[in-house]
Amino acid sequence: MDYKREFIFAIVGMLAVAIGTAGTAQIIKPTLDNVFVAKDATMLSIIPFFLIVIFSIKGVGQYIQTYYMSYIGLDVVRKLRDDLVTHLTYQDIAFFNNMHSGEILSRITNDITRIQNVVTTIIPNFIRESLTIVALTIYVIYESPKLALYFLVIMPLAILPLSRLAKKMKKYSKLSQESTSTMISRLGEIFSNIEVIKSNSTQTIESNKFSQENYSVFKYLIKQVKVNALTTPIMEILGSIAIGVVIYIGGTEVIEDRMSVGSFFSFSAALFMLYNPIKRVSKLYNKAQDAVIANYRMHQLLNMKPKVVSGDIVLNNRIERVVFRNVYLNYEDKRVIDGVSIDIKRGDSIALVGDSGAGKTSFVNLLVRFYDADMGVISINGVNIKELTLSSLHKEIAFVTQRVHIFNDTVANNIAYGQEVDRKRVVEALKKAYALEFIEKYENGIDTILNESGNNLSGGQRQRIALARALYKNPSLLILDEATSALDNKSELLIQRALESIRDKIITVTVAHRLSTIEDADRILVFKNGKIICSDTHQNLLNSCNEYRKLAKL
Ligand code: GTP
Ligand code: MG
Repeated sequence: MDYKREFIFAIVGMLAVAIGTAGTAQIIKPTLDNVFVAKDATMLSIIPFFLIVIFSIKGVGQYIQTYYMSYIGLDVVRKLRDDLVTHLTYQDIAFFNNMHSGEILSRITNDITRIQNVVTTIIPNFIRESLTIVALTIYVIYESPKLALYFLVIMPLAILPLSRLAKKMKKYSKLSQESTSTMISRLGEIFSNIEVIKSNSTQTIESNKFSQENYSVFKYLIKQVKVNALTTPIMEILGSIAIGVVIYIGGTEVIEDRMSVGSFFSFSAALFMLYNPIKRVSKLYNKAQDAVIANYRMHQLLNMKPKVVSGDIVLNNRIERVVFRNVYLNYEDKRVIDGVSIDIKRGDSIALVGDSGAGKTSFVNLLVRFYDADMGVISINGVNIKELTLSSLHKEIAFVTQRVHIFNDTVANNIAYGQEVDRKRVVEALKKAYALEFIEKYENGIDTILNESGNNLSGGQRQRIALARALYKNPSLLILDEATSALDNKSELLIQRALESIRDKIITVTVAHRLSTIEDADRILVFKNGKIICSDTHQNLLNSCNEYRKLAKL
């Protein structure tokens, strides 16, 4: 650990607190015996001074301990959150398709907060209270071994019921954390589907569903409170028994003159002081169960390994050739790419057409390695795609989908995403994508901040931003998956023309439903049930491919 220094300071602080607490009990003895019984005037003037010293030691110790332990705790959590976010961004696309983003958010915020609580408060309090218990116990035994024996026999009896409670606590912690995640997921769902909810006036239905989730969070939290609250009375009753026994026996010792009044009170005070830390330790133990669960959930995520991993050959050149040899892809047990083979060279413009669900998006997903082929080989410039580093592969590919992703940042940073901003090239890219006309109208031009959901843009404007981003990248493989579906015919035609100028230098793979967009592609692949059933130019397909003729008629 890199926290050696902070930890040493914290321990010193905790020791000071423990010693100070034992000292508080100790000082009662001279106060009673020397001042009240023996009426010693010198002691009278010394004792208040010592009292202040003892409490100062305790106070300073407390301060040092709290500061350094919190420092460690907050820093551990900060690093954990960093690691978790980095780790998650490398997970497979399939992971994000299966896990609700609300659930992920909940893990990163709620679970981590519970862990933070452990490091900053539970562990240090546990150590401090334990040290205090040790210091006071040593003092109690030193003061009267005989009396201490009675007490030390009764205390362990408390462990049994307390460990039962801790088990219950663990169960409810798990349930409460799971229900919190579900509730946060639902929240995410409500706000991301707000348009549907409002346009159907289903607010009541949604809020009823939400209040069920919300209620189950409440239910488990209140159960946790119940269990935790039980520890206090159990400890109080056991404590009163122990102290009652001590008063009876200790009182007898004093009456029969085997113990001074001061010793008896110091001893009793130490016992009373012991009571609080013991009670606190058992409560902390309960609370720690919460963190054990949170930690478990966290490690579930941290141990998850992506299936799609980077290779280690760096793709240094432009993409010249893409070959699919007998490629199969399954989602779970459903086959979506069924033995596809194809050879694409630089300058080729390929179009994919076919019914919805035919496998077009799955095909292009393989090119960016959102998924890896279950069988067969995809090679880029003769190298198996799995052996290339992901970053060098992605540098050569621009991938534009129907769903446009916009970052909460300036237009320029959105266009040059992941690269240095070259303002001249940004403007050029915007111009080619016919986006400059509406960006120019903004007061701040390309420095205008776009909001992350892109709500301040129309669907077509968003697509043009995405196209400009792709063009700025200067890719050698351009993938357009229904990238112009939201554009009006005129803008689509203009963009087609803009793409023409780069088309013979790169590979373009275009998925389109409107056949007008792809009529002049070099090759059109007709997909059906994961297979390529025809592949030729528009004119030839019209003559030879039934399926294509059907599509053309629509
Ligand atoms: P359109 O975009 O509608 O034109 O269809 P497409 O040709 O792009 O189909 P796509 O490749 O997206 O889907 C092929 C098949 O895979 C369909 O039957 C989908 O139901 C299925 N599919 C797509 N994505 C997933 C996924 O993440 N998980 C699972 N289990 N199935 C999927
Ligand atoms: Mg698709």
